[in-house]
Amino acid sequence: MDGPSGSGKSSVSRGVARALGLRYLDTGAMYRAMTWWMLQQGVDVADAAAVAARSGEPVIVSGTDPDGPAIRVDGADVAAPIREAQVTGAVSAVAAVPEVRVRLVALQREIIGAGGIVVEGRDIGTVVWPQAAVKIYLTASAEARALRRSAELSGTTAEAQQAAMARRDTLDSTRKTDPLSMADGAVELDTTPLTLEEVIDAVLSVVAERRSSG
Ligand code: DC
Repeated sequence: MDGPSGSGKSSVSRGVARALGLRYLDTGAMYRAMTWWMLQQGVDVADAAAVAARSGEPVIVSGTDPDGPAIRVDGADVAAPIREAQVTGAVSAVAAVPEVRVRLVALQREIIGAGGIVVEGRDIGTVVWPQAAVKIYLTASAEARALRRSAELSGTTAEAQQAAMARRDTLDSTRKTDPLSMADGAVELDTTPLTLEEVIDAVLSVVAERRSSG
Protein backbone atom coordinates (compact mmCIF):
# COMPACT_ATOMS: atom_id res chain seq x y z
CA MET A 1 0.00 0.00 0.00
CA ASP A 2 1.77 3.11 -1.23
CA GLY A 3 0.73 6.75 -1.43
CA PRO A 4 1.42 10.24 -0.10
CA SER A 5 0.83 11.34 3.49
CA GLY A 6 -2.80 11.83 4.43
CA SER A 7 -4.06 9.49 1.70
CA GLY A 8 -5.38 7.21 4.45
CA LYS A 9 -2.71 4.51 4.13
CA SER A 10 -2.32 3.75 7.84
CA SER A 11 -5.99 3.41 8.74
CA VAL A 12 -6.74 1.52 5.54
CA SER A 13 -3.75 -0.84 5.85
CA ARG A 14 -4.57 -1.65 9.45
CA GLY A 15 -8.24 -2.19 8.65
CA VAL A 16 -7.42 -4.50 5.75
CA ALA A 17 -4.90 -6.46 7.85
CA ARG A 18 -7.49 -6.89 10.62
CA ALA A 19 -10.21 -7.98 8.18
CA LEU A 20 -7.95 -10.57 6.58
CA GLY A 21 -6.15 -11.71 9.76
CA LEU A 22 -2.79 -10.55 8.41
CA ARG A 23 0.19 -8.81 10.00
CA TYR A 24 0.83 -5.11 9.36
CA LEU A 25 4.02 -3.10 8.83
CA ASP A 26 4.29 0.71 8.88
CA THR A 27 7.55 1.47 7.05
CA GLY A 28 7.10 5.22 7.56
CA ALA A 29 7.44 4.57 11.31
CA MET A 30 10.85 3.03 10.63
CA TYR A 31 12.04 6.16 8.78
CA ARG A 32 10.61 8.23 11.62
CA ALA A 33 12.42 6.06 14.21
CA MET A 34 15.72 6.53 12.36
CA THR A 35 15.06 10.30 12.27
CA TRP A 36 14.16 10.42 15.98
CA TRP A 37 17.45 8.69 16.81
CA MET A 38 19.49 11.08 14.61
CA LEU A 39 17.90 14.07 16.37
CA GLN A 40 18.55 12.51 19.81
CA GLN A 41 22.19 12.05 18.86
CA GLY A 42 22.50 15.64 17.70
CA VAL A 43 23.22 14.64 14.10
CA ASP A 44 22.59 17.47 11.63
CA VAL A 45 19.86 15.88 9.47
CA ALA A 46 20.57 18.34 6.65
CA ASP A 47 24.06 16.81 6.36
CA ALA A 48 23.47 13.66 4.27
CA ALA A 49 27.03 12.40 4.79
CA ALA A 50 26.66 12.67 8.57
CA VAL A 51 23.31 10.85 8.48
CA ALA A 52 24.77 8.14 6.22
CA ALA A 53 27.78 7.64 8.50
CA ARG A 54 25.58 6.95 11.56
CA SER A 55 22.72 5.12 9.82
CA GLY A 56 23.96 1.66 10.78
CA GLU A 57 23.94 2.35 14.53
CA PRO A 58 20.37 2.38 15.87
CA VAL A 59 18.67 -0.97 16.45
CA ILE A 60 15.17 -0.49 15.07
CA VAL A 61 12.54 -3.12 15.86
CA SER A 62 9.06 -2.97 14.38
CA GLY A 63 6.06 -4.92 15.63
CA THR A 64 3.48 -6.19 13.16
CA ASP A 65 0.23 -6.23 15.16
CA PRO A 66 -2.39 -4.10 13.36
CA ASP A 67 -4.09 -3.41 16.70
CA GLY A 68 -0.99 -1.95 18.34
CA PRO A 69 1.93 -1.38 16.01
CA ALA A 70 5.02 -1.13 18.23
CA ILE A 71 8.28 0.55 17.29
CA ARG A 72 11.44 0.49 19.37
CA VAL A 73 14.86 2.08 18.97
CA ASP A 74 17.67 0.57 21.06
CA GLY A 75 14.96 -0.96 23.25
CA ALA A 76 13.03 2.29 23.87
CA ASP A 77 9.37 2.55 22.87
CA VAL A 78 9.23 5.51 20.45
CA ALA A 79 5.65 5.11 19.14
CA ALA A 80 4.66 8.53 20.52
CA PRO A 81 7.79 10.68 19.98
CA ILE A 82 8.16 9.68 16.32
CA ARG A 83 4.83 11.49 15.63
CA GLU A 84 6.09 14.81 17.03
CA ALA A 85 6.52 17.83 14.78
CA GLN A 86 10.30 17.87 15.03
CA VAL A 87 10.54 14.35 13.60
CA THR A 88 7.86 15.01 10.98
CA GLY A 89 9.79 18.08 9.83
CA ALA A 90 13.09 16.20 9.50
CA VAL A 91 12.03 12.77 8.21
CA SER A 92 11.98 13.57 4.47
CA ALA A 93 15.65 14.62 4.59
CA VAL A 94 16.66 11.45 6.44
CA ALA A 95 14.54 9.21 4.18
CA ALA A 96 16.30 10.67 1.13
CA VAL A 97 19.71 9.35 2.23
CA PRO A 98 20.51 6.17 0.21
CA GLU A 99 22.36 4.44 3.10
CA VAL A 100 19.29 4.87 5.32
CA ARG A 101 17.05 3.35 2.67
CA VAL A 102 19.35 0.38 2.01
CA ARG A 103 19.38 -0.46 5.70
CA LEU A 104 15.65 -0.04 6.32
CA VAL A 105 14.62 -1.81 3.11
CA ALA A 106 16.72 -4.82 4.19
CA LEU A 107 14.95 -4.83 7.59
CA GLN A 108 11.57 -4.53 5.88
CA ARG A 109 12.31 -7.45 3.55
CA GLU A 110 13.23 -9.64 6.53
CA ILE A 111 9.86 -8.92 8.14
CA ILE A 112 7.87 -9.28 4.91
CA GLY A 113 9.62 -12.53 3.97
CA ALA A 114 7.58 -14.50 6.51
CA GLY A 115 4.47 -13.65 4.41
CA GLY A 116 0.88 -12.76 5.30
CA ILE A 117 1.34 -9.02 5.73
CA VAL A 118 -0.06 -5.64 4.67
CA VAL A 119 2.78 -3.14 4.26
CA GLU A 120 2.39 0.60 3.92
CA GLY A 121 4.93 3.09 2.60
CA ARG A 122 6.06 4.99 -0.47
CA ASP A 123 8.17 2.42 -2.35
CA ILE A 124 6.73 -0.95 -1.32
CA GLY A 125 5.32 -1.94 -4.72
CA THR A 126 8.19 -0.37 -6.67
CA VAL A 127 11.30 -1.32 -4.66
CA VAL A 128 10.77 -3.20 -1.41
CA TRP A 129 8.44 -5.99 -2.59
CA PRO A 130 7.54 -5.66 -6.29
CA GLN A 131 6.34 -9.30 -6.26
CA ALA A 132 3.46 -8.41 -3.86
CA ALA A 133 0.23 -10.30 -4.64
CA VAL A 134 -1.77 -7.06 -4.52
CA LYS A 135 -0.47 -3.51 -4.93
CA ILE A 136 -2.62 -0.52 -4.05
CA TYR A 137 -1.77 3.13 -4.65
CA LEU A 138 -3.91 5.45 -2.52
CA THR A 139 -4.40 9.08 -3.48
CA ALA A 140 -6.61 11.92 -2.24
CA SER A 141 -6.91 15.60 -3.03
CA ALA A 142 -4.43 17.91 -1.30
CA GLU A 143 -7.32 19.51 0.62
CA ALA A 144 -8.66 16.18 1.88
CA ARG A 145 -5.19 15.01 2.94
CA ALA A 146 -4.46 18.23 4.85
CA LEU A 147 -7.85 18.11 6.58
CA ARG A 148 -7.28 14.53 7.72
CA ARG A 149 -3.84 15.35 9.09
CA SER A 150 -4.96 18.49 10.91
CA ALA A 151 -7.76 16.50 12.51
CA GLU A 152 -5.10 14.08 13.82
CA LEU A 153 -2.74 16.77 15.14
CA SER A 154 -3.65 19.49 17.58
CA GLY A 155 -2.48 23.09 17.27
CA THR A 156 -2.35 23.23 13.50
CA THR A 157 -4.69 24.57 10.86
CA ALA A 158 -5.64 22.80 7.65
CA GLU A 159 -3.89 25.55 5.65
CA ALA A 160 -0.61 25.18 7.55
CA GLN A 161 -0.86 21.41 7.20
CA GLN A 162 -1.43 21.66 3.47
CA ALA A 163 1.68 23.80 3.01
CA ALA A 164 3.88 21.54 5.17
CA MET A 165 2.54 18.45 3.48
CA ALA A 166 3.11 19.85 0.00
CA ARG A 167 6.76 20.47 0.92
CA ARG A 168 7.12 16.91 2.22
CA ASP A 169 5.39 15.40 -0.84
CA THR A 170 7.70 17.31 -3.16
CA LEU A 171 10.76 16.04 -1.27
CA ASP A 172 9.43 12.46 -1.16
CA SER A 173 8.50 12.38 -4.87
CA THR A 174 11.55 14.13 -6.28
CA ARG A 175 14.36 12.54 -4.26
CA LYS A 176 16.89 10.52 -6.28
CA THR A 177 16.57 7.23 -4.38
CA ASP A 178 13.23 5.37 -4.58
CA PRO A 179 10.88 8.34 -4.93
CA LEU A 180 7.17 7.93 -4.30
CA SER A 181 5.61 6.64 -7.53
CA MET A 182 2.92 4.20 -8.59
CA ALA A 183 4.12 0.62 -9.12
CA ASP A 184 3.48 -1.37 -12.29
CA GLY A 185 0.34 -3.39 -11.79
CA ALA A 186 -0.89 -1.25 -8.88
CA VAL A 187 -4.57 -0.44 -8.50
CA GLU A 188 -5.06 3.29 -7.91
CA LEU A 189 -7.79 4.30 -5.47
CA ASP A 190 -8.77 7.94 -4.97
CA THR A 191 -10.03 8.11 -1.40
CA THR A 192 -11.23 11.75 -1.52
CA PRO A 193 -14.97 11.04 -1.67
CA LEU A 194 -14.91 7.82 0.35
CA THR A 195 -15.26 6.95 4.03
CA LEU A 196 -12.61 4.77 5.68
CA GLU A 197 -14.97 1.77 5.57
CA GLU A 198 -15.59 2.32 1.86
CA VAL A 199 -11.87 2.40 1.09
CA ILE A 200 -11.26 -0.77 3.13
CA ASP A 201 -14.12 -2.49 1.27
CA ALA A 202 -12.69 -1.38 -2.08
CA VAL A 203 -9.28 -2.83 -1.18
CA LEU A 204 -10.88 -6.07 0.06
CA SER A 205 -12.70 -6.34 -3.29
CA VAL A 206 -9.42 -6.01 -5.16
CA VAL A 207 -7.91 -8.74 -2.96
CA ALA A 208 -10.93 -11.01 -3.53
CA GLU A 209 -10.72 -10.47 -7.30
CA ARG A 210 -7.01 -11.30 -7.35
CA ARG A 211 -7.62 -14.42 -5.29
CA SER A 212 -10.40 -15.67 -7.56
CA SER A 213 -8.39 -14.99 -10.71
CA GLY A 214 -5.26 -16.65 -9.70
O1 DC B 1 3.99 7.70 6.16
P1 DC B 1 4.76 8.65 7.08
O2 DC B 1 4.31 10.07 7.00
O3 DC B 1 4.87 8.17 8.48
O4 DC B 1 6.25 8.62 6.47
C1 DC B 1 7.28 9.36 7.04
C2 DC B 1 8.32 9.73 6.00
O5 DC B 1 9.06 8.60 5.60
C3 DC B 1 7.77 10.39 4.73
O6 DC B 1 8.33 11.69 4.60
C4 DC B 1 8.28 9.53 3.60
C5 DC B 1 9.21 8.54 4.21
N1 DC B 1 8.95 7.17 3.77
C6 DC B 1 9.71 6.69 2.74
O7 DC B 1 10.53 7.41 2.20
N2 DC B 1 9.55 5.41 2.34
C7 DC B 1 8.65 4.60 2.91
N3 DC B 1 8.52 3.33 2.49
C8 DC B 1 7.84 5.10 3.96
C9 DC B 1 8.02 6.40 4.37
